[in-house]
Order: sequence, then C-alpha cells, then structure tokens
Amino acid sequence: MNQGLALVETGGVSAPVGPEASEAFASIVGDSPALRRCLADARRIAERGARTVLVIGETGTGKELFARGIHAGGPASDGPFVPVNCPALPASLLEAELFGYERGAFTGARERKKGLLEVAGEGTLFLDEVSSLPLDLQPKLLRALEDRKIRRVGGLEEIAIRCRVVAATNESLETAVATGRFRADLYYRLNVLPVTIPPLREREGDVTTLARHFAREAAERNGVAVRLLSPEALGVLEAHGWPGNVRELKNVVDRAVVMGSGPSIGSDDLHLGRRRARAEDRGVAEHPGIEIPPDGRTLASIEAEAVARMLEITGWNKSAAARILEISRPTLTRKIRQYGIRPPNA
Ligand SMILES: Nc1ncnc2c1ncn2[C@@H]1O[C@H](COP(=O)(O)OP(=O)(O)OP(=O)(O)O)[C@@H](O)[C@H]1O
Ligand SMILES: [Mg+2]
Repeated sequence: MNQGLALVETGGVSAPVGPEASEAFASIVGDSPALRRCLADARRIAERGARTVLVIGETGTGKELFARGIHAGGPASDGPFVPVNCPALPASLLEAELFGYERGAFTGARERKKGLLEVAGEGTLFLDEVSSLPLDLQPKLLRALEDRKIRRVGGLEEIAIRCRVVAATNESLETAVATGRFRADLYYRLNVLPVTIPPLREREGDVTTLARHFAREAAERNGVAVRLLSPEALGVLEAHGWPGNVRELKNVVDRAVVMGSGPSIGSDDLHLGRRRARAEDRGVAEHPGIEIPPDGRTLASIEAEAVARMLEITGWNKSAAARILEISRPTLTRKIRQYGIRPPNA
C-alpha cells in the first residue's frame, strides 16, 4: 500500500465559496445577548484579518460554524478553508500533512508534497481539537505561527506561509497545560484572540429560536409540511440542560419532524426527559443497566464496561466521557489502553 498517498488524502480541502463579509455569520442563528457578544467578537476579529484565532466552546456549540464565519468574513475569504482534525491522525502523519515532505523523506514519500499550511495559501487552516496536537509537533507549529515559515519534513528550504490559522478546542487548554499535555508557549501564542462560544444553556431564549429554525429546515429538507412546535414542547426544550448543545437540539428536533405525526410537534415527539435521550441523540442504542449476576463480577470488568459505554454514548468524545466519569483525560486514556477498548470501526 502506498502510505504516502493515503496520508495526503486525509486532510480534505473544502471549496472556497466565501459569502460576502456581511453574510459570513448569517447561518449562525440566535438573538441572546451571550451569542450576540460572541458574534461581535468574531466579526471584529475576522474583519481585522487576525492571523491566529482560538475558538473555544463545549461540544456542539458551533465552533466549526464560527471558524467558517471568521474565514468568510475577512481577508482570507478568497482562499480555501482547510480543516484538519488533529486527533484523527498519528503524530508522524499529522506532521507530514501539516508541513509537507520532500521526496524520500520517509518510506512511501515518492514525491514532494505540500503541507496543508502551504496548501491553505491566502485562506484559512482550521486546526480542530488542537488540544490533541502531539507534544512534539507543538514547537513546530509555534515556530510556524511566529516566523510565518515552515520546513517540509526532510527538507532544508524555508517556505513562507500566508494563511490564517483558526484553532478550536472543546477542552480547557489551561488544564491541558497544567497536566503537561500542551505547551504553555503555544497556548499563549494561540490565545491572543480567543472567541469563546457560550454553551446553549447560557443563551437566553435561543433554544426556542433555534428549535423553530431547525423544525423549518428539517421539514424543507424532508419534503414534509412545516409543523409548529407546541408551547408545551417548547417548554420541555427550554427546560432541558443540552449537554450536547446546538447539535443535540438539532438532532432532537430533526427526529421529531421525521417521526412525529399530528398537526403540531408535541412534547411526546421530542423523547426528552427520559434518561436515554442523550444516547439516542448520538445514534447509540438504548442500554440496560450494568448487570451483576448472582455469583458476582470483578470490579475491573464493571469498570471496563462503564468506560466503554460512556465512550459509546459520547461518540468517543474522550473529554466529555472523562468529564462525566469524573476522571482526568489521561486516566481515561490509560483505562482505554488497559482494557483494550476500541472504537466501533477500529
Ligand atoms: N447558532 C447556530 N445556528 C444554527 N446552527 C448551528 C448553530 N450552532 C451550531 N449549529 C449546528 O450545530 C451542529 C454542530 O455545530 P459545529 O459542528 O460547528 O459544532 P462544534 O462546536 O464544532 O462541535 P464539536 O465540538 O463536536 O466538534 C452543526 O450542524 C451546526 O450547523
Ligand atoms: Mg467541530
């Protein structure tokens, strides 16, 4: 297998269709003061052409949507938007992806290949889940951001980079620094212009606005008549805590639109208020409780099952799983290794 070829195809370069600056954030719905403040920050940062931006927010709050808005709303909008999911690749492949390589730099490197920092050109490199950036790549990224130059793997030539870098994290980088997983110097460099997206539970009134928006959108997408959400259904939505934020809300409303019947969407169509709702939102089948047979079970096997289920429920979002289990992320990683737990498609 040609490994060199496989790795270059994983980056994914999106088409650079950039709306006008004024429309850049138009797909972001919500009128709450918390969201308005955040949008104003993002718009200002986009327009001023900041070269490094950090987008911070819990899972499902819209980090990628904001990153695309920052790209489209500023001088980088003519260039491509190049997303890179940091945890998706092992360190060596990620380095080759970001910085590129020269022919013969390693087995499989049959020809010279540009890194995504170069490919992004005058556009935006989106470094998603930057807290997962391997430690030994962090000084290299820092140098790239400071000197605006990179070297390809196995190369000597210094190549100027021109792109804007938008990094995103749902994990506190302060914690990652405190636990030695993230370099303080890179954190300070990234954190110059942070855009902090509020969790949905702190956006007063936005649940209703978003739910109506998603109900309309889902009806159009599925070619069914638009049904209104009943006041009772809106009450249930407003009362929910939304740990999965906007994505979770969208999933709940999408399902209600497709599965529900009757003139309006009622609270029963939402399937909220049941403990299994969260797992269902993420496409996880309902589980019975952890079973302990009469002759008992080892604590280790119970722990392994609990860890595996939590990973399944959170869609392998390790930060979220660790938070719910009230253990640190490194501890979770250790347990995954210890019990040999694997993602479904591994
Ligand atoms: N304010 C909003 N208005 C409309 N749609 C939104 C809004 N915020 C998020 N969404 C939608 O919710 C979903 C999740 O958003 P997005 O992928 O940007 O979140 P994220 O913070 O990157 O999540 P993760 O941490 O899981 O990567 C997407 O379908 C997005 O279009
Ligand atoms: Mg994302």
